[in-house]
Amino acid sequence: MTKKVLLLPGDGIGIEIVAEAVKVLQALRNDYGLAVETETALVGGAAIDATGGPLPEETLQLAREADAVLLGAVGGPKWEPLDISIRPEKGLLGLRAGLGLFANLRPALLYPQLASASTLRPEVVAGLDIMIVRELTGGIYFGQPRGIRTLENGERQGFNTLVYSESEVERIGRAAFDIAMKRNKRVCSVDKANVLECTELWREVMIRVAKDYPEVELSHMYVDNAAMQLVRAPKQFDVMVTTNMFGDILSDEASMLTGSIGMLPSASLDADGKGMYEPIHGSAPDIAGQGVANPLATILSVAMMLRYSLGEEALAARIERAVSRVLDQGLRTADIHTEGTTRVGTARMGDAVVAA
Ligand code: NAI
Ligand code: MG
Repeated sequence: MTKKVLLLPGDGIGIEIVAEAVKVLQALRNDYGLAVETETALVGGAAIDATGGPLPEETLQLAREADAVLLGAVGGPKWEPLDISIRPEKGLLGLRAGLGLFANLRPALLYPQLASASTLRPEVVAGLDIMIVRELTGGIYFGQPRGIRTLENGERQGFNTLVYSESEVERIGRAAFDIAMKRNKRVCSVDKANVLECTELWREVMIRVAKDYPEVELSHMYVDNAAMQLVRAPKQFDVMVTTNMFGDILSDEASMLTGSIGMLPSASLDADGKGMYEPIHGSAPDIAGQGVANPLATILSVAMMLRYSLGEEALAARIERAVSRVLDQGLRTADIHTEGTTRVGTARMGDAVVAA
């Protein structure tokens, strides 16, 4: 059955990098019979310009009907004067909420060819391959009540609420264990159970979920220690699962261990395996339109899409091998360029992956 992929290039370099990802999809369709059809829609600043809002109803509807969504990036200085409630980034949040994408997968994988890109010593990060699974639709980012109130003495007080129900913890736990089964079968659940009751419950539920995955080893770590361990000895981790806020912080920390924002993909999944896939970087207005952006994070996002939403593990691995081969050939976009390698632009990098 033909699968539907919705393309949302968005703004800035989003347009250039999604074009390269489409070349790769096209090649898989022509050479390996991948049965996908694509459609393109507006999101972010491009949607604001055309329709007045960052997430047109038509886009959300197409996203709901698709098996997977590939997003470039949204935002840019052009839309920064706008009210925060109608900014391009709202389009992303609307998609995540509208599609129920509760599991955010952020791999931090260091290609050995790029070991010198990390700020950490090569022996600390060489071979690094972590998957951070962040809960994306609950926790303190969504908890009620929230706001800023004025107390009787006239002092103002800000407050947010950290809440997780058992079912929310269970489903993100299962997502993490399912992923661990396809990897090295170790899950580290990160919480603050010594201080926050909410995450005491989190820990309890994780232990319960683990009973259904006897092959997977579960460990627990407090978030402050996890932040430290990530820079001390990051290779001790396989899959890390954590709350929305802890995951926001730890996934950015982990991604930078690899030193290259242009290399890292991400996935956000719902309960049925439908997902939205995107590079972790933004629209890079400083280099947009110049044909120099690194398309590999977006191309690797296509690999994640094939693995997690389209049931095409072999083709996912094929893309990842092709990326590795292109790096072996010494081809580098400006963001990962070092002495002795060949500097190429966005389109040449995409073509090289297709050829590989
Ligand atoms: P950014 O990720 O767009 O850029 C940070 C730096 O990394 C820039 O110097 C940029 O040139 C470079 N860079 C990013 N991606 C690259 C690539 N593929 N190849 C080569 N170099 C790359 O983050 P920034 O500058 O903070 O945000 C720019 C805009 O993007 C803002 O409007 C922001 O709100 C938006 N944004 C959107 C995201 C999304 O759509 N998911 C995520 C982060 C930011
Ligand atoms: Mg973040």
